Amino acid sequence: MSIIKILFFLKGDITNYEFLSSSIKEIRPNVVVHFAQCPSAPFSMINQEKSVWVQRNNLIGTLNLVHAVKDYAPDAHIIKLGTMGEYGTPNIDIPEGFF
Ligand SMILES: NC(=O)c1ccc[n+]([C@@H]2O[C@H](COP(=O)([O-])OP(=O)(O)OC[C@H]3O[C@@H](n4cnc5c(N)ncnc54)[C@H](O)[C@@H]3O)[C@@H](O)[C@H]2O)c1
Repeated sequence: MSIIKILFFLKGDITNYEFLSSSIKEIRPNVVVHFAQCPSAPFSMINQEKSVWVQRNNLIGTLNLVHAVKDYAPDAHIIKLGTMGEYGTPNIDIPEGFF
């Protein structure tokens, strides 16, 4: 009997390319849903240090994922939702960062 693994949990920092690429290489996913970012706009604007941390974390993590998938699971799909994908363009303030 074969077992189909649907979800995996691995704890690590995706800005660490070694961790991420070895995980993708081991799992060989069909789909990666990418939520591993700091989503808080207010946090990202507290000061210079936090702005730079958020940019570095979110951009390098995403770039690492793109390259790890390209190198080790090139047929996989990456699903990444940004704020506009979640909310569209409503005529209200977007309630991001409250939590
Ligand atoms: N919550 C929303 O309404 C909403 C709306 C639109 C877009 N998004 C986007 O969805 C994504 C996730 O948002 P959320 O609300 O689930 O945030 P969240 O803070 O609840 O979850 C983000 C998770 O990513 C992890 N993470 C952050 N950096 C990481 C890293 N370098 N390596 C590994 N894990 C890391 C955090 O530890 C946390 O568990 C973000 O990109 C956000 O912009 C969220």
